[in-house]
Amino acid sequence: MFQWKKEYETGIAIIDEQHQELFKIANEAYNLLKNNLIIDKYDKVLIIFDKLLDYCKYHFSAEEKYLLDIGYKKFLSHKVQHEEFIKDLKNANLKKIDTNQDEYIMEILEFFVRWISGHILATDMDYVKYERTLK
Ligand SMILES: [Fe+2]
Repeated sequence: MFQWKKEYETGIAIIDEQHQELFKIANEAYNLLKNNLIIDKYDKVLIIFDKLLDYCKYHFSAEEKYLLDIGYKKFLSHKVQHEEFIKDLKNANLKKIDTNQDEYIMEILEFFVRWISGHILATDMDYVKYERTLK
């Protein structure tokens, strides 16, 4: 299970809710993947993965709108990071048939959570610092 940590909190309610939702959806996929009692779990995992990708896009555009609203100077480089991440996720072919499908999907999920956590701690926290100077 992917653990949400206090250090990921930005203090901006809407952003924190959306970041937590990303963890929640990633954990849905994780739990399903770990459940060997469900027969057609891959179809379900793919549906959740689509939901994760959609929610991630939704979150990024909400965050970008917020960054424009507060006049964040590094808006463009932040947006590029979001775009490249979405591109990487789209390139992950989850339908790839091989004997280690569990392992493959788990790797993508781990990549997702690792990227999001790192992005929150470095890139997002930078606009949090900026946002605090406005108060
Ligand atoms: Fe971001």
